[in-house]
Amino acid sequence: MSEQSYERVQQSYGRCIISNGFFDDFYKKFMDSNSEIKKMFENTDMTQQKKLVRHGLSFVIQFSSDSSIAKNKMKDLRKSHAADAMDIPKWMYQNWLNSLLETVRSHDKSIDTITLKDWKVVLQKGIAQISGE
Ligand code: HEM
Repeated sequence: MSEQSYERVQQSYGRCIISNGFFDDFYKKFMDSNSEIKKMFENTDMTQQKKLVRHGLSFVIQFSSDSSIAKNKMKDLRKSHAADAMDIPKWMYQNWLNSLLETVRSHDKSIDTITLKDWKVVLQKGIAQISGE
């Protein structure tokens, strides 16, 4: 991934984070996309979860630029989401990706086609790492 693309995604994520309700909208979209996904979060403290994912997502973005700290964090996420832990089925990652891209599109006031494509590359790389593909 080029430095320019990485920079575009970082800037876009910055705008998303300061946009009200970004993580609320993401989890609403993600859970509404499938009832089995909704069930996975039945016993989750969503306020805490939104904070954790805020950081998780910044690691996913850094991971795309080969940061070694992010690599370690991604290993942890792979372990926690794996079959012998939370056991997240692979297909759910597609819903995760689509829900996130839609949320970025509606919250980033300066979004454009190129940035959205860069986001997709970043997220797919992170998902491949976490889901073990
Ligand atoms: C690249 C994609 C994803 C990222 C970056 C991510 C990130 C995180 C992070 C940071 C946590 C906090 C706990 C931990 O560090 O393990 C977490 C927990 C969790 N994630 Fe993910 N996740 C992703 C995909 C998914 C998908 C597709 C599902 C499917 C439903 C999912 C379900 C969960 C659940 C159920 C928890 C535990 C909540 C609890 O503690 O009750 N995640 N995730």
